[in-house]
Amino acid sequence: MRELVCAVDDLTPGQAHAAVVGGKTVAMVRLDDGTIHAIEDECSHGSVSLSEGEVAGCFIECWLHGSRFDVNTGTPVTPPATAAVLVYPVEIDGEDVYVDVESPTNL
Ligand code: FES
Repeated sequence: MRELVCAVDDLTPGQAHAAVVGGKTVAMVRLDDGTIHAIEDECSHGSVSLSEGEVAGCFIECWLHGSRFDVNTGTPVTPPATAAVLVYPVEIDGEDVYVDVESPTNL
């Protein structure tokens, strides 16, 4: 079930923001192209927050060891991480951003 997370304008393009949705911490990412993505906010290589990393293009970089994850697929494209993080469906309804953490798109 989708839950209201924030407003579109709460998310800065090119940055990630942590949000708690359905008891899970999610990294909300608004890319420079305006698209909004929601991924699991824990690196698959270690217990650190991906939302504290840098966003470049469609990637977010883990601040600890530098793995970059594609926010569309959750897949790491650079080591040392090898496992994907979960990607959650995002819906925009007017100015509101909804995420469904119960239905990851990449399981
Ligand atoms: S903890 Fe993220 S790459 Fe190592």
